[in-house]
Amino acid sequence: MHSVTRPLIAPSVLAADFARLGEEVQAVARAGADWIHLDVMDGHFVPNISFGPQVVKALRPYSTLPFDVHLMIEPADPYLEAFAKAGADHILIHIEAGPHAHRSLQHIRALGAKPGIVLCPATPPEAVSEILDMVDVILVMSVNPGFGGQKFLSSQLPKIRRLREMITATGRDIRLAVDGGIDPKTAPLAVEAGADVLIAGSAIYAQPDYAAAIDALRSPVTA
Ligand code: DX5
Ligand code: ZN
Repeated sequence: MHSVTRPLIAPSVLAADFARLGEEVQAVARAGADWIHLDVMDGHFVPNISFGPQVVKALRPYSTLPFDVHLMIEPADPYLEAFAKAGADHILIHIEAGPHAHRSLQHIRALGAKPGIVLCPATPPEAVSEILDMVDVILVMSVNPGFGGQKFLSSQLPKIRRLREMITATGRDIRLAVDGGIDPKTAPLAVEAGADVLIAGSAIYAQPDYAAAIDALRSPVTA
């Protein structure tokens, strides 16, 4: 079984106050965040629009934490360089967002960023089996992408378990992240299934005390 350790916490600024984004990034960094999760939406791959590379660039001076940039855009290829130049440390693309994930992941690596692959709820774990040697992050969506504040889909837990087995079999150091509906109740389910990064928007930014909210996501787990 996957040995349960302290998960990394990546607040999603999608749930932050967009009029004060810089301060909101600093605030979660001070509150103990490990990564900053940035959700990029195009109104085409997902039915919502958020922000683009200029915002990532504008936020870059506000924190030295890794910027985990989740691209919910189709196509992604024309924008990869802009996100790398904007200061993205991890660039995650959806396996569903085009036929050439292999090429996109190569491109992300060549740009000097860490490549990641994301799976929507309807996508089986085997969809990424041929590209495991190319990624540093695998992200399981536990809601349909596009909006914060949705209910965690526990149907995704077997997929997390399976991906953890697949990662272990590679012997490579690949982070397994879960995104959507993570709160103090669902966080331990995701971690027990094998996740080691928890992405959370509302469970952090909708709370009055960000440090307490981040601790509450970690606390059910003892190393
Ligand atoms: C959804 C985004 C998530 C979102 C999570 O498409 O990928 O990162 O911000 O929000 P919560 O934690 O509120 O479900
Ligand atoms: Zn996300």
